[in-house]
Amino acid sequence: MKKIMLIFGTRPEAIKICPLIQELRRRPSLRTVVCVTAQHRQMLDQVLEAFRIVPDYDLNIMKDRQTLFDLTVNILSAVREVLEKERPDVVLVHGDTSTAFVSSLACFYLGIPVGHVEAGLRTYNLQSPFPEEFNRQAVGIISRYHFAPTPLARSNLLREGKPESSVFVTGNTVIDALRQTVRADYTHPELDWVGDHRLIFITAHRRENLGQPMRRMFRAIRRVLEEHSDCRALYPIHMNPAVRQAAVEELGGCDRIHLIEPLDVLDCHNFESRACLCLTDSGGIQEECPSFGVPVLVMRDTTERPEGVDAGTLKLVGTEEETIYRAFTRLLEDEEEYRRMSQAVNPYGDGQACGRIADILEGKPYSPWEP
Ligand code: UD1
Ligand code: UDP
Repeated sequence: MKKIMLIFGTRPEAIKICPLIQELRRRPSLRTVVCVTAQHRQMLDQVLEAFRIVPDYDLNIMKDRQTLFDLTVNILSAVREVLEKERPDVVLVHGDTSTAFVSSLACFYLGIPVGHVEAGLRTYNLQSPFPEEFNRQAVGIISRYHFAPTPLARSNLLREGKPESSVFVTGNTVIDALRQTVRADYTHPELDWVGDHRLIFITAHRRENLGQPMRRMFRAIRRVLEEHSDCRALYPIHMNPAVRQAAVEELGGCDRIHLIEPLDVLDCHNFESRACLCLTDSGGIQEECPSFGVPVLVMRDTTERPEGVDAGTLKLVGTEEETIYRAFTRLLEDEEEYRRMSQAVNPYGDGQACGRIADILEGKPYSPWEP
């Protein structure tokens, strides 16, 4: 039996890997071993509970205000021990976090093949997002299997010289996750508070936005909300203390915004699906909202997910206060612009990505996802 180990550590990795664990466990020819670094603690546990996954190994490495040095050193030595003990046939890592990069580095040192889920996303700017663009390129150098979510991701990998036989277009597993979380009869007290107002959904956390860029984003959002009495905003604040402090200082006391704790994934997906629009610097939310037809203003200068921009649902608005203020105001006041951005499209997958990845690992024929 082929032994597949999955290593992940943060909330977004967990949301996209848990449906894959469920699928792999349905395959009799595969044995799965789940190892979490717990680069995130509470935000990871929320997802594990939602998908009812109990890890075989929990390395529990998170520290308050951890640096990239802390992460790299602590993950490398802890993962090494587990890999040496288990000696899996393949290790699956996801995306572009420190957990993904450092775990694949450990596999490289030990000669263990790596499969990269969500491979081939690129901005080709090592500073944006930082350090994620480096992380995913480095995982790509090491990987034996590249599970590219879209044809564009595949073409990035082929252009970099990855062998064609190692690159598979599977769709993004986040769309598989949405099939388990979004419900028509969903209710929540925060949605009762929003009532008939337009729901604005906000998240922010990127390392390169900490400090002034994030404060500018928040100031723009506050100005627009103070000018629009028909809107109410929900903002589940990331647990990073630097984000929390800026959010409370810039947005606290505004009675049209509820600053709330990180949402369970089920709540988060249902909030998004009912939103009028999202403002975010998150990666995953750029993939989720297009399938709900919810416009997203991406508060970053670059995106590795241009498919949603091309489809019209995402717009890059950078981190300057005036630019965000104008784009946000326009979307609320210009019906035609709003209509253009709110067409439901699915450039990121069809909900079958996990099945395709499992087929490939079992050596079965697979048919690539075609948008
Ligand atoms: C990490 C990833 C980023 C991903 C993001 C998703 C890296 C370098 N960064 O960034 O790619 O987009 O996760 O959210 O891999 N904290 C808690 N509890 C938690 C989670 C975080 O208290 O459950 C606090 C801790 O003080 C921690 C800090 O947040 O030190 C930052 O966490 P870290 O994983 O280093 O960075 P993120 O910004 O979350
Ligand atoms: N998310 C969540 N609760 C929240 C905020 C986000 O479950 O309070 C989910 C969201 O639906 C998406 C993922 O977390 O699936 C995105 O994670 P994050 O923004 O932390 O990281 P990124 O995607 O930018 O790496």
